[in-house]
Amino acid sequence: MSVVKILCVIGTRPEAIKMAPVILALKKERWAQVHVLATAQHRQLLDQTLGFFGINPDTDLDIMRPSQTLSTLTAHLLLDLDEVLLKEKPDVVLVQGDTTSVLASALACFYHRIPVGHVEAGLRTGDIQQPFPEEANRVITSKLVRWHFVPTENVRQNLLTEGVVDANIFVTGNTVIDALLTTVALGVELGLDIDPSKRLVLVTSHRRENFGEPFQNICEALRTLAENNPQVQFLFPVHPNPSIKDVAQVCLAGLPNLTLCAPLAYPVFVAAMKAAYLILTDSGGVQEEAPALGKPVLVLREETERPEAVAQGGVRLVGTDCTRIVEEAQRLLDDSSAYRLMAQGVSPYGDGQAAGRIVQALREHFC
Ligand code: UD1
Ligand code: UDP
Repeated sequence: MSVVKILCVIGTRPEAIKMAPVILALKKERWAQVHVLATAQHRQLLDQTLGFFGINPDTDLDIMRPSQTLSTLTAHLLLDLDEVLLKEKPDVVLVQGDTTSVLASALACFYHRIPVGHVEAGLRTGDIQQPFPEEANRVITSKLVRWHFVPTENVRQNLLTEGVVDANIFVTGNTVIDALLTTVALGVELGLDIDPSKRLVLVTSHRRENFGEPFQNICEALRTLAENNPQVQFLFPVHPNPSIKDVAQVCLAGLPNLTLCAPLAYPVFVAAMKAAYLILTDSGGVQEEAPALGKPVLVLREETERPEAVAQGGVRLVGTDCTRIVEEAQRLLDDSSAYRLMAQGVSPYGDGQAAGRIVQALREHFC
């Protein structure tokens, strides 16, 4: 049996979490030679996450620069990826998600005529500006890659509508559920200095389309909620992007029941989601994880590419209007029957076996 060289690209924290189950599964396959390429579009967040999963990149581009523009990031990635692809000559490249690392990798592979498998392919809001720039990254990436590993049947339909050949689409579930279930089983404690007798509201935010006024509104809503609910504890692990971190630290200082902290290591963040009563977020991954843990989510965005959990009732889009966020969160804090309707504990995003299905599809093609 000839060995297939598979280069797995990881750029940011969510890519590490969602690609880790695939890498770990591929490493058990005798026909597969795995090469992990970290673009390190995220430096600290990536190292923190890869360390937890025990993955050591074979190549590290160390591309992150403070506050770099998207064009600079893309240009540097293309130049560096060119060299790696020429040197490593992979048979196939796997990318995950919708970051700039994904788009640049898909484009570089297209130029080198290397087939690409796209993990978590096909998500769409239908609005090229939302999320920015991820929706464009996804749409362009889908045009460039060969295999599309999609999380749900609904997403498969997105790609069929765009003319993707059905035989190249594999409904696998989302690998985030694989990572989540493995991590939950470890039973890591939250271990933070917060009052366990209080209900916990967990918050994350980092989307570029929310920079400026929308994020100011989110902060204003959090301040109001914290002031009006002294018996509730708010926990906000702050993304290191200066457009978020600098604003959060100014707007949300001095509230005794609102803790701003550095990004939490993945197992600790999972413990925080488990401990949470309610989650407010604009994250993609958290929208997928929280329903699997039965935690209601208010999404701080105008659109979502993950409508499945909204349809099931565990996730609600509330946008970035301050009054609306306060009203929706307060209702769930005050009205236990409205809360129970959202806290269902069903995941539309998979059964924890997505990585195995991706490996199987590759095995069937190459072996
Ligand atoms: C990126 C992705 C986004 C994804 C998010 C996950 C793009 C365009 N954006 O957004 O799709 O949802 O990651 O978190 O691909 N920084 C650090 N240390 C880190 C990480 C970031 O200091 O470990 C700071 C740096 O100043 C960096 C900035 O954050 O320049 C922005 O990072 P970047 O990867 O460009 O964008 P994110 O907002 O993190
Ligand atoms: N996460 C984490 N620590 C944190 C916040 C989030 O490990 O402090 C995890 C979270 O569980 C999810 C992923 O990071 O799996 C989501 O990353 P992010 O929100 O940065 O990106 P997105 O999913 O929006 O692309």
